[in-house]
Amino acid sequence: MNPPTRLIGLREDAVLAWADGVLTITHPFGTVTARGLTPGIAALLQELPGTLADEDELAERLLAAGGTSQEVALFYLALSRLRPVLVHALEPLLRVVPIARDAVFEPPALSADDTVRLSRFALVRRSGEGLILESPLSRHRVTLTEEAMPLIAALGRGVLVKEAPEALGHLVAAGLAGADEAEEEHPALRAWEFHDLLFHSRTRVGRHDQPFGATFRFLAEEPPEPVAKPLPEGPAVELFRPSLDAAAAADPPFTTVLESRRSVRAYADEPLTVRRLGEFLYRVARVRGVFGPAPGMPYEASSRPYPGGGAAYELELYLTVGRCDGLDSGVYYYDPFGHRLIRLPARDQDARAMLATASVSTGGTAQPEVLITMTSRFRRMSWKYSGLAYAATLKNVGVLYQTLYLVATAMGMAPCGLGSGDADLAARTFGLDWATESSVGDFLIGGAPRVPGS
Ligand SMILES: Cc1cc2nc3c(=O)[nH]c(=O)nc-3n(C[C@H](O)[C@H](O)[C@H](O)COP(=O)(O)O)c2cc1C
Repeated sequence: MNPPTRLIGLREDAVLAWADGVLTITHPFGTVTARGLTPGIAALLQELPGTLADEDELAERLLAAGGTSQEVALFYLALSRLRPVLVHALEPLLRVVPIARDAVFEPPALSADDTVRLSRFALVRRSGEGLILESPLSRHRVTLTEEAMPLIAALGRGVLVKEAPEALGHLVAAGLAGADEAEEEHPALRAWEFHDLLFHSRTRVGRHDQPFGATFRFLAEEPPEPVAKPLPEGPAVELFRPSLDAAAAADPPFTTVLESRRSVRAYADEPLTVRRLGEFLYRVARVRGVFGPAPGMPYEASSRPYPGGGAAYELELYLTVGRCDGLDSGVYYYDPFGHRLIRLPARDQDARAMLATASVSTGGTAQPEVLITMTSRFRRMSWKYSGLAYAATLKNVGVLYQTLYLVATAMGMAPCGLGSGDADLAARTFGLDWATESSVGDFLIGGAPRVPGS
């Protein structure tokens, strides 16, 4: 095979401005400036967005236009300084494209007999019309052609540098492959799992060029998911609505609640009553009001006792009841608008499996009375947010946990957050489509055991 052709370019969306002897290159993720260039060099660089060119041919054009050898030397110096923001192509194999402000493209010192392997954080996926190779450790994205695939496949195990020096040089320079075991031995990197590091890199800004934040990407295409989930069919159980004045008068002071809050995995001999469960859900999760659409918020939102990103309140609560005085054991959906439970036609073995899974999460300590499972109607968030939708949902789960903890503590109940649950089992139990609405949090609640001596 012929050696691939090295070409350089700039991203199509790079905007170049030449003023007062300073060339400014602006990308969606940041700006770099190059000083001390000649107008001829600036004019050549201004041709680069969206195209690919051979460095030496550009230099020859500089000479042909009357440039001096010093100007050519200055041109090569400018390219080496701008290397991190250039597109580096190896035709016909791959293109390395910068995607973040602090992109690094350092041609590595590789020996012919070094073995290079793909980073264990790298992934190949379809994006738009083609395949891309990317990694949370890289501030570049590599677009791949079919000709590159045998090499990428071989890089899973390792390829000698001398077998593909140019391509391996580019992949190592962009941080997608490595020549040694550094990644396995790095104390921080070895602790990251593939999916966690990818999630971390893509759900905050700084390391990617993807749309981010409240972009309302589906605004023109479809309405948002409704503020209220359409109620499932089933018998309704109206819940007790407490007086908030009476609750406030009976509650311990805030600092006492905060300081006495504990995770409790044992329960009172007498089961929790449905009246207490009603008061608890009312104080944690009911809808206090609905508002919007409003300027900047083109959707209906709601107000609840716990905070929620964008007031979208994508989280739904389901109760798997093992033991509760006044409420049949079974599976229920909590309607936060009507403050009632809707009994779901779940199979007994699924309900038992939900409680058993929760018990396992406590190391077998708790024999759950009531399991509260939070699901997310994901499209409530992804209709509005790009990049951070799922990360925000998990944060919403966290604040809901804390609200459950504090209200339970104030009411003298036994609360315990759980770190994991079975999302497939939950979808089956609640009759949900996993990709549309699946479980993201689990919480146990029951009557607090009497503290010995109190
Ligand atoms: C997000 C989260 C996940 C948790 N996961 C579990 C769990 O899976 N099993 C469990 O028994 N406790 C779990 N807990 C409870 C913690 O173990 C507990 O909060 C921690 O040990 C501190 O004790 P304290 O809550 O009594 O102050 C979790 C708590 C949180 C906030």
